[in-house]
Amino acid sequence: MIGTGYVGLTTGACLASLGHSVVCADADPHKVERLGGARVDILEPGLPETVRDALAAGRLEFTGDTAGAVAEAEVVFLCLPTPMGAGGAADLAAVEAVAGVIRDVLPPGCVVVNKSTVPVGTCARVAALLGRADVTVVSNPEFLREGRAVHDFLHPDRIVIGSADPAAARRVAGLYAALDAPLVLTDPASAELTKYAANFFLAMKLSFANNLATLCERFGADIDDVTEGIGRDPRIGPAFLRPGPGWGGSCLPKDTHALLTVCDRSGIDFPLLSATIETNVTHQHRLVARVAASCGRGTDGSLHGLRLALYGLTFKAGTSDLRDSPALAVARLLRERGAGLTAYDPALCEERPDLSDLVDVVADPVRAAEGAAACLVLTEWPELRDLDWAAIAARMTGHEVHDFRNLLDADLLARAGLSWRGIGRPAAP
Ligand code: UGA
Repeated sequence: MIGTGYVGLTTGACLASLGHSVVCADADPHKVERLGGARVDILEPGLPETVRDALAAGRLEFTGDTAGAVAEAEVVFLCLPTPMGAGGAADLAAVEAVAGVIRDVLPPGCVVVNKSTVPVGTCARVAALLGRADVTVVSNPEFLREGRAVHDFLHPDRIVIGSADPAAARRVAGLYAALDAPLVLTDPASAELTKYAANFFLAMKLSFANNLATLCERFGADIDDVTEGIGRDPRIGPAFLRPGPGWGGSCLPKDTHALLTVCDRSGIDFPLLSATIETNVTHQHRLVARVAASCGRGTDGSLHGLRLALYGLTFKAGTSDLRDSPALAVARLLRERGAGLTAYDPALCEERPDLSDLVDVVADPVRAAEGAAACLVLTEWPELRDLDWAAIAARMTGHEVHDFRNLLDADLLARAGLSWRGIGRPAAP
């Protein structure tokens, strides 16, 4: 396993838990040392235990030596970062660098599996970089959600394997034999495209839900009822239709932009894709305009001299990950209009990130409300429901709570003297 991010580490530890012998390599010696001592620094339920048990069973080891890790491998997984690079394209530098490191040390007949999210054609490119006729490169995209990665690995909806060589595909499929999941066996290009198509479709659903929420607010309808009403049609499905402050995280934004770049470069017009991305931005502008209007500044007005309290900064609940967080995107828009921002996030109390140019992060949810004209809920942490909202109200100068995750109980807030405004929901009477 090359790379011990949340995908590599989860895949490595879970494959070890299924009985395979796994060596995980990572270029960061500090990480290797900590993981070797079963210390997992990412917030991922069940992962520390899985790593600890696999280490104790002698089926998992960590090393900083990538070439050494592959020397006796039957299957090598590439789980490397493919961040947003120039012009929105996926940056394949890490994948290409590792291909160079392993090309001469891969054992004969070994299968290289690409798990990183990469543009169509990358399997072929890696195969060309390796230049080894005896090594097959297979695409096996991951569909793990952060915060649910171990669960998703052990209970997959499907396992997609793209290979031109049926024997190599069978070998990779065999690794997952203990899991009860449908196999989609295909060619590498289809497997690579499947991953982008999945994340694009999910993002499209969310942009749709967020626009629908705007319609609901305009007409006094309730987004929960509308999404339940449509979601009960199995052709639509109820999942992934909760409105919010926009979609973010380390995957959806990066992958939709990368796919858009691929389309542009191939001369293919895919307006649904660009609209999905643009909608996410215009939606956030709308939410900020709504906050400005409710603070008496007019939808386009400046927020100078106003302090706002933000609850939740991570891109979703259950993770400490701030990458491409919609909460931070909203914060940036508020800041551009001149608002002063204080934030509380349950995952950022012990190790507080330095976001001082943007927002003061405090460890006390009541203190976050000091002098605030309004509160904004940006991440759906369940514990935010149980904050001392009366104490928060006492510190505020205003009384509105913009709950952009429809998380809080309007009646409870009303008893604390606050007025709740959700997203895509009728205002509380
Ligand atoms: C996403 C996909 O869901 C995984 O299937 C995929 O494997 C992963 O990317 C990846 O490519 O590695 P993840 O980035 O962990 O997983 O995040 P999601 O749980 O999908 O959430 C993405 C964003 O959508 C978050 O900002 C979340 O708050 C938002 N969201 C999600 C909503 O606003 N409403 C919803 O109903 C669901």
